[in-house]
Amino acid sequence: MLELSDIKSSEEELQDYYTQLRAQHVTPAWIGGGISSEPQSKAVPYLWHWRDLRPQAMRAAELVGTQQAERRVLRLTNPELPGIASNTLVANIQIVMPGEVARAHRHSGAALRFIIEGGGGYTVVNGERVPMFPGDLVLTPNWSWHDHANDTDGPMIWLDGLDTPLVRMLEAGFYEEYHEERQSFGAAVNSSPWHYPMSEMRAALQRLADSGSADAADGIILEYKNRRTGGPVMPTIACFMQLLRPGEQTRASRRVCCTNYHVVEGAGCSIVGGRRLDWEDKDVFTVPTWTFCEHVNTGDRPAFLFGFSDAPVMKALSLYREEKRA
Ligand SMILES: [Fe+2]
Repeated sequence: MLELSDIKSSEEELQDYYTQLRAQHVTPAWIGGGISSEPQSKAVPYLWHWRDLRPQAMRAAELVGTQQAERRVLRLTNPELPGIASNTLVANIQIVMPGEVARAHRHSGAALRFIIEGGGGYTVVNGERVPMFPGDLVLTPNWSWHDHANDTDGPMIWLDGLDTPLVRMLEAGFYEEYHEERQSFGAAVNSSPWHYPMSEMRAALQRLADSGSADAADGIILEYKNRRTGGPVMPTIACFMQLLRPGEQTRASRRVCCTNYHVVEGAGCSIVGGRRLDWEDKDVFTVPTWTFCEHVNTGDRPAFLFGFSDAPVMKALSLYREEKRA
């Protein structure tokens, strides 16, 4: 007959054994726990108000030049994480002032820019000039050369989303500076694979709303598709836009992925892991993995929530799950 073995050893014997193991850099797996029945994020739900972020971005532009800072970036910091907004993805605020450039470089972390404020300006991606208007999504995929320039009269401010915490954890990060400050580029192209104008997304959401085919759980939601593969925009990051009509409330759900949201416009609240996050135009908030989340548009305007998550990583590794609250 097979059964669980029952061995009684003395505390002294055990401690002596553990001491030997430690000296040999070996750790017994049966002490220290480490098993949980479901994901427990170290990150906590958190919201950053635009009314706080914008003045500090402007202050950064007074204090630090793009000569001093490779990128003039404020890292939104989850209260429980080291300098990052979520477990695998950062959500940062970058500002480029009139006449400034942020020099060309590339890295193995993939990045997205979601434009918050500005009247133009551009990012050069692998020699292609990509315009940046409020509400636009601009991609600079893994290892693509990119530099930013503001040729307008006002500040340009955008949300940077990158997978650098993931890349760092995988110890796969490379970084390289371009041999010149800026890339040269040809005439602006009409449509770039790395550019998703807000006007297109807004129209597509409106068409979906008009068709009456809203999902009661999620409101009106569209994922940005990679224009070449039809899949997520980048291998490590999925982006989507969610439209909530006035009074609309989504059903609570949770997913194995961390998600950062930016309120493009509108006012409302999200209940995230039991915490109520009240948001309005241009705020940013983070939803940790496997945390119930529901959104409510409490205002009298349509609300547009831009979101980006690491769901493609979870799906590629067969780790993705989602659950709607009954
Ligand atoms: Fe970069």
